[in-house]
Amino acid sequence: MARLFIGLMSGTSVDAVDAVALAIPDDSGPPATIAFASLPIPAPLRTQLRALTRSADDELERAAQAAHELTELYAQAVSALFEKAGPYASPIVAVGAHGQTVRHHPERGFTIQLLDGALLAERCALPVVCDFRSGDIAAGGQGAPLVPAFHREVFAHPGRRRAVLNIGGIANVTLLGADGALEAGFDTGPGNTLLDQWCQRHRGVPFDDGGSWARSGAVLPSLLQACLADPYFQRAAPKSTGTESFHLDWLAQRLAASGAEGARPADVQATLLEVSAATIAAALALTAELDEVLVCGGGVRNAALLARLRDLCAPVSVASTAEAGIDPQAIEAAAFAWLAARRIDLQPVPLDGVTGANGPRVLGALYQPAGVRGR
Ligand SMILES: Nc1ncnc2c1ncn2[C@@H]1O[C@H](COP(=O)(O)OP(=O)(O)OP(=O)(O)O)[C@@H](O)[C@H]1O
Ligand SMILES: [Mg+2]
Repeated sequence: MARLFIGLMSGTSVDAVDAVALAIPDDSGPPATIAFASLPIPAPLRTQLRALTRSADDELERAAQAAHELTELYAQAVSALFEKAGPYASPIVAVGAHGQTVRHHPERGFTIQLLDGALLAERCALPVVCDFRSGDIAAGGQGAPLVPAFHREVFAHPGRRRAVLNIGGIANVTLLGADGALEAGFDTGPGNTLLDQWCQRHRGVPFDDGGSWARSGAVLPSLLQACLADPYFQRAAPKSTGTESFHLDWLAQRLAASGAEGARPADVQATLLEVSAATIAAALALTAELDEVLVCGGGVRNAALLARLRDLCAPVSVASTAEAGIDPQAIEAAAFAWLAARRIDLQPVPLDGVTGANGPRVLGALYQPAGVRGR
């Protein structure tokens, strides 16, 4: 018998709310995704959420309003999931909802994910777990990435040293030992976010399909050097970052510093692709003799980025998690379904030094729907 949980995720790309129904077996078998749905975030809400990553006027009011709108979208994603999956064999135990990160400053003791947990519990008539990150930060950790614990659950493979690479707006890696141990997990820096934002500005579309625009340009060495000089890339793990650190103003400073302000936009895009690929490959090179790299997240669809990663990581194989039988789009949302199960069971999340917290903690705040009685 398995228990069912729903996971809801909207990541740093601010592209969509992804929803997963995850079956967690009662025995020690691996969790299995049984349904997936994805609802695009409407452009006005995306603009609003992106703007909230930077200081501006009237933030409290705008953040509360955006959280409210996003929560309604999360609730619609749950409905879309039910429509797709049809009737379930067993009832849903709880929903794990990430919310939208608008500030992530673990060094200053806080991280903010916008979401109204009470409203989501009301809309879904299910217990909702959210605010997963602040408990880890309170314990001295980075609060991110949290998914490596789930990556180990799903991808640890006896006898194989694997890296799991998630290319979202920000990219993160999980290193799994041949004994199944979680050896490390950290954010490498920008994944898609700079590529998306530059593409939106110059081409008016939210992403560079297949990376073909980047392919049409040539890497600008001085700009590349200026970008790679950001101290984040040299910092040792544990470390995590967000789009409040990597954005178009960050790029503008480096364009100015490298004298590349008048460069062709396609050449800048090619350089940004190289920044993502080079920093990811450098992070993977920190570990000894990987057997393979399994890639998930939307970046897996950027063929140019994947090809460049393959070049840089050769002879280590770089493949989509689809080749290990797991949909690369569903993994992050599935992780939050699994994290909800940990919270419901009052099980600490085994992050084994990934975030640098003082020890494993039970993570997440629980909102109960109407009709739940307790003391
Ligand atoms: N066909 C495609 N070609 C190139 N890039 C794509 C394509 N499809 C999706 N992407 C990229 O994937 C991104 C979405 O990926 P994903 O949803 O994994 O990121 P995310 O929402 O930031 O997640 P997280 O932060 O949780 O990792 C898009 O913004 C885009 O950059
Ligand atoms: Mg996304």
